Amino acid sequence: MEPQAAPRSGGITDQFRLEGRVALVTGASTGIGAGLAQAFAEAGADVTLAARTEADLERVAESIRSLGRQALVVPTDIRDLEAIERMVSRTVETYGRLDIMLNAAGVQRRKPILEATADDWHYVMDVNARGAFFTAQAAARAMVPQQAGKIIHIASMTSFRGFSDIALYGFSKAGIVQTTKAMAVEWASYNIQVNAIAPGWITTPMTITMNQARKDWVNAHKPQGHFGVPADLAGAAVYLASPASNFVTGQTFAVDGGFTAGHPWPSLDDE
Ligand SMILES: NC(=O)c1ccc[n+]([C@@H]2O[C@H](COP(=O)([O-])OP(=O)(O)OC[C@H]3O[C@@H](n4cnc5c(N)ncnc54)[C@H](OP(=O)(O)O)[C@@H]3O)[C@@H](O)[C@H]2O)c1
Repeated sequence: MEPQAAPRSGGITDQFRLEGRVALVTGASTGIGAGLAQAFAEAGADVTLAARTEADLERVAESIRSLGRQALVVPTDIRDLEAIERMVSRTVETYGRLDIMLNAAGVQRRKPILEATADDWHYVMDVNARGAFFTAQAAARAMVPQQAGKIIHIASMTSFRGFSDIALYGFSKAGIVQTTKAMAVEWASYNIQVNAIAPGWITTPMTITMNQARKDWVNAHKPQGHFGVPADLAGAAVYLASPASNFVTGQTFAVDGGFTAGHPWPSLDDE
């Protein structure tokens, strides 16, 4: 059977609107998840906010409600597969549907590979890989009967390149790129598009703890020369959540101030 093309209506700017759509965002308590939940609401969506820290989720919810959108807070630890099921079912019970799943929950632990332990493995993988995988699965199960849905993962520069002291994180984020492709292939016939955004160093609680020498290195190797803010990812996220991207699936988009394009060199002055 031919997969149904998702309907697009209106002009090109209308295709980016999210009115009448429901987004579920994990990692919504801080940083990128909080910023992109806000962006979805600004584009018209009602939102479910999930992470472990309820007080932070409530703060984000208040800000979304002040835009005239609905915000449902569902405290969730995505290491718990039953909690993932609850997060999706509460969303569908409340709003009657789930259109957009943004998987922004993630953790980092910096340590040389020679010192990594099984606990480090579980700390990183249980959230970034296992949690992301089963969150997408639960979301897709709600989207299949609708024959429509958008799933967005958050990858990383470490999906593509090796960096010392964050190998486990890179392992999990390289997996995100691959599972984005596999999910896109498997769920295309249900009209579910699966894509990822690979941010290149955004100022959030996760990166604020990087030491200054590493921050300086990042800025020196980025053509645009500075860290981004979560709002810098909003255009890509709303695009991937909206009908404007209906023919795009399985892709990972770097939003990185030019880092993956290349690096500025020292000047030619002494040549
Ligand atoms: N900042 C960057 O430069 C950058 C670059 C590439 C990729 N990323 C990725 O972007 C995503 C967001 O990170 P961020 O930079 O915004 O960092 P962040 O502010 O530390 O956000 C991480 C989010 O994940 C949630 N979280 C952590 N463990 C969880 C769990 N077990 N269950 C549910 N939620 C959990 C946290 O909330 P609670 O603690 O309340 O649960 C928080 O909302 C992550 O996947 C990260 O790997 C970030």
